[in-house]
Amino acid sequence: MMTSRVIPVVAFVLVVFGATGDLARRKLIPAMFQRDVAGQLPRDATIVGVSRGPLSEAAYIAMARQAVLDHVPADERSEADVERFIERLRYVSAQADSDVGWEELAAVLHELPGRVQVFYLATGPALFGPICERLGRFGLAHKNARVVVEKPIGKDLDSARLVNEDVGKVFPEDRVYRIDHYLGKEAVQNLMALRFANGLFEPLWNAAHIDHVQITVAESLGVEGRAGYYDTAGALRDMVQNHILQLLCLVAMEPPARLNADAVRDEKLKVLRALKPVGDALSTHTVVRGQYRAGASAGGAVPGYLDELGADTSTTETFVALKAEIENWRWAGVPFYLRTGKRLAERVSEIVIAFRPIPHSVFDEQAGTIVANRLVIRLQPDEGVKLWLMTKDPGPGGMRLRQVPLDMSFATTFQVRNPDAYERLVLDVVRGDQTLFMRRDEVEAAWIWIDPILNAWSESNEVPKPYTAGTWGPSAAIALIERDGRTWLDGGT
Ligand code: BG6
Repeated sequence: MMTSRVIPVVAFVLVVFGATGDLARRKLIPAMFQRDVAGQLPRDATIVGVSRGPLSEAAYIAMARQAVLDHVPADERSEADVERFIERLRYVSAQADSDVGWEELAAVLHELPGRVQVFYLATGPALFGPICERLGRFGLAHKNARVVVEKPIGKDLDSARLVNEDVGKVFPEDRVYRIDHYLGKEAVQNLMALRFANGLFEPLWNAAHIDHVQITVAESLGVEGRAGYYDTAGALRDMVQNHILQLLCLVAMEPPARLNADAVRDEKLKVLRALKPVGDALSTHTVVRGQYRAGASAGGAVPGYLDELGADTSTTETFVALKAEIENWRWAGVPFYLRTGKRLAERVSEIVIAFRPIPHSVFDEQAGTIVANRLVIRLQPDEGVKLWLMTKDPGPGGMRLRQVPLDMSFATTFQVRNPDAYERLVLDVVRGDQTLFMRRDEVEAAWIWIDPILNAWSESNEVPKPYTAGTWGPSAAIALIERDGRTWLDGGT
């Protein structure tokens, strides 16, 4: 396997609040470990875990070691790698909502002077304000310090503004990093390369040539151990407000003048502001929400959402499909069909750019149907790009046409390990590069579009439509697109 190019970063301290939580164990620790193995971490790179638990440093290190063993494939780590990595770890027990432990944290950080300090708030948003306030009061929010906040940023526009204000009282916007891990995915980065490093697509990238766009982020898993959080969020807040709208922005934005943080974010913001308000959010012509019932997934029987939640009722949606429109010259009249859900038929995330049909066929009926071209950008699994073209079936027996993809799989083309999004994003924070992070106005613009849908749902007595686990969601979601004479391209075919 080739190794990817590695550019070392400066000395840093990564302070993870919520250090024993799911995100820290599943993503942050393994990501830092991988970067260490790749040789990207300088000698002076330290990770300080912070949580409220009265854990000893040894117990924290044992937990972090287990996180590496659980989440880094065995052939990507050696015992020596693990030993070297855990030398970088420290632990402080401190409380986000009281001053307990903060002097100790400050003392640990004072022992590590002159480094970039990254405060990663892997906690619920209710703690962002209290943590930032204390970072300020304990003298930790100096000019070399940055704060990283995870989604969800609020649960609607008003609460997002409050969170942003609380964080903004202590950290200026150019030191606030709002993570949307989808922006760090390799294939999402590639979308920008595809659009802006090739002359081929951009002239066609508009309403004159594109019929519609589909964005699917389908998961086969249910809510697993996160039902408590998930039930307060639902698919619209959990996936659409951030990940899916960010993907839509990258597809739809005008080419920025440069690939720098503000140029890119200015263009994304224009897209969010041009989104047509959904209108009647209760009409299944525009929005469909669903909730899974028991079914089968990955070959086995799986329980329904309510069973996983351990509740008798819940109106939280685990699936949502929407028809979005962008009111500008480039995209007027081009629907963007968006859908996401848990416990769907397979785990697949894809963007399909469906081009317009040819205006006139020169072939006779025998040739068969001429299917319009499609560009499919597969984000996961099996990252790659497929351009579906019509070609002639081989053979002398007349002219028969068939659609065949020009197929580029990143795995076979590059043969490098695909780094996880967090590996790139955390080091971008150390580098001080905000390009792949959401700016405050972007997050708020996304909520402005989402809020009316949430309000309409909460004011109505309607409940999400049931769907069987392991399917593609409620039939109303299929009708949503078929009504327009189009069809979901499951698995990009
Ligand atoms: C998270 C959501 O942001 O993204 C989860 O909170 C979801 O509910 C996850 O499962 C999906 O991320 P990925 O990288 O597995 O596609």
